Amino acid sequence: MKPISDQIKEKPWLGWAIFFSTIIVVFFLGLLALSIIERRTEAVFAYTPKVEYTQWEPRNEVWGQNFPRQYNRYMQTADTSFASKYNGGAMRDMLAEDPRLVVLWAGYAFSKEYSQGRGHYYAINDIQNILRTGAPMEGQKSPQPSTCWTCKSPDVPRVMQEVGIAEFYKGSWDTRGAEIMNFIGCADCHDAQNMNLRITRPALVEAYDRRGLDINKVSHQDMRSLVCAQCHVEYYFQGEDKYLVFPWDKGFTVEDVEEYYDSYTFKDWTHAISKTPMLKAQHPDFEIFNSGIHAQRGLSCADCHMPYMNEGGQKFTDHKIQSPLNNVANTCQVCHREETPKLIANVYERQDKIKQNRDKLEELLVRAHVEAGKAWELGAKEIEMQAILQDIRHAQWRWDFIAASHGGSFHSPIECSRIISTGIDIAQESRIKLARLLASYGYNKEVPYPDIDTKEKAQKYIGLDMQKLNADKEKFIKEVIPQWKKQAEEREKTYAIKNL
Ligand code: HEC
Ligand code: HEC
Ligand code: HEC
Ligand code: HEC
Repeated sequence: MKPISDQIKEKPWLGWAIFFSTIIVVFFLGLLALSIIERRTEAVFAYTPKVEYTQWEPRNEVWGQNFPRQYNRYMQTADTSFASKYNGGAMRDMLAEDPRLVVLWAGYAFSKEYSQGRGHYYAINDIQNILRTGAPMEGQKSPQPSTCWTCKSPDVPRVMQEVGIAEFYKGSWDTRGAEIMNFIGCADCHDAQNMNLRITRPALVEAYDRRGLDINKVSHQDMRSLVCAQCHVEYYFQGEDKYLVFPWDKGFTVEDVEEYYDSYTFKDWTHAISKTPMLKAQHPDFEIFNSGIHAQRGLSCADCHMPYMNEGGQKFTDHKIQSPLNNVANTCQVCHREETPKLIANVYERQDKIKQNRDKLEELLVRAHVEAGKAWELGAKEIEMQAILQDIRHAQWRWDFIAASHGGSFHSPIECSRIISTGIDIAQESRIKLARLLASYGYNKEVPYPDIDTKEKAQKYIGLDMQKLNADKEKFIKEVIPQWKKQAEEREKTYAIKNL
């Protein structure tokens, strides 16, 4: 073909045709770009602010007057109607579903009551009502520290501003009972001035600092995960004053965090049967997610848990934070072409397979605790038990890291399988050592597996007086909570809000 300049020389009209079509294309491209920019600004700014409030306004309903779409969806985290195979917003008594947990946590508050997490709406209700926070009244303190409030409410950054971070964590849980009243909300994730995402929890900023990273320099996409990483992470309470720390100094993997804890000889509690210095994993969702394929392909938590939605031509972020399986069309299917049942089956398949080995590890751990208890009973010495207890500690740490990370089996199935299989290996190792030790004390039979097929039996087996715990809690809920609520109401009346 001839060069275009020669062709135009032969047919001048061709030049003009190219010229005008280019103008038309550019014109429409311009319109498209404008419309995209407009949509984006619409999503953020298409509102007339009705009220003005301070940076640390803790009440979602106040922010909601300016942002009704996000607020209305956020309030739907109250919906408990969806239960997937393992997760969802429904209330689930995990100890009843799996009584072995009671034995694994013997001597620790989790053996009293443990429910599957549900929507953000319930954060305050659930922490007030759970047996783990005890029944603080009549001079009796809660067994938990004030630090436990940290991931429950926008009242937390508010009080931290007032009294300081270290001071906030100090004292028992009931100390701040009347202060922390609003469930997780807008002020936890947003700057009131411009609605930018912001980090309000110092533990996350401090963990970044110690790794030599500046959290103010991360990308926007990273922020869409980091707002969640303020709470959905592994953490512990450091020292007498229970300062909240994320144990990330050596890295994010189960081994990195274990090494960190071991180097401090840190323990969460001593196991009531085996006397093992135990670690309790919290919910390392962020850490495990980061080892999976979706994180490696650049997705953030919000991509699946807060997808975009449309209402009256307005595109905005769905604030009903929930299991994506209740909304496959707006989450998975943005990228995957498969039908909903197939995508759900993909998730269940990963969860089922990991659960299968996790259950096996759980049984081995129950056996190891009981066998170690038998060894102590027969007069085993501290020095003989040391290596065994270290194995039990490490094996249960691996089990818990996966059990407590509620989305882990989907977020990063290969890493979860790896962790569980190393856990099984270590648990077996401890039981080989135990068998030798028991034999050296003349015990050559199998140590009987306890009769723990219901939660009630398991709690009786570890010696909990559930009747008393429940009665005390009931009294606390009836007598103390209403006082806390009243004090909070009085205080909130004094907050500055301006109608515009
Ligand atoms: C757990 C964190 C979190 C909480 C709590 C939260 N948001 Fe958001 N919000 C987000 C994320 C993530 C986005 C998406 C931001 C982006 O991609 O730029 C967002 C976006 C927004 C936007 C920008 C427009 C849009 O829809 O994308 C508004 C306005 C907003 N949120 C209002 C609220 C209000 C009002 C509340 C309280 C009722 C609230 N948010 C609670 C995380 C949160
Ligand atoms: C201030 C702490 C905090 C922040 C920030 C936070 N969460 Fe949560 N989240 C919680 C707590 C606490 C619960 C459990 C509440 C309960 O069961 O009472 C929870 C529950 C959930 C659930 C279970 C809901 C259900 O219906 O099954 C999901 C999913 C979830 N969060 C995802 C996220 C995502 C995604 C983000 C970031 C956009 C986020 N969370 C930010 C503390 C937080
Ligand atoms: C923003 C796009 C995006 C969304 C949303 C998304 N995915 Fe993916 N998904 C990917 C990418 C990219 C990969 C990696 C595949 C590749 O690179 O070949 C992937 C991989 C997968 C895999 C195979 C990896 C594995 O675990 O073995 C499964 C299964 C999967 N996604 C299911 C889902 C489900 C279920 C959802 C909804 C809860 C979902 N995805 C949401 C982009 C997405
Ligand atoms: C690719 C999509 C995808 C991304 C990205 C993603 N998740 Fe998930 N998440 C899921 C799926 C699917 C489940 C399993 C839901 C179920 O079993 O009902 C889940 C489960 C969860 C659960 C338990 C939900 C419940 O109902 O109890 C939490 C909490 C959670 N994810 C938090 C996070 C956090 C925090 C991040 C970011 C660090 C994140 N997720 C990123 C898809 C995703």
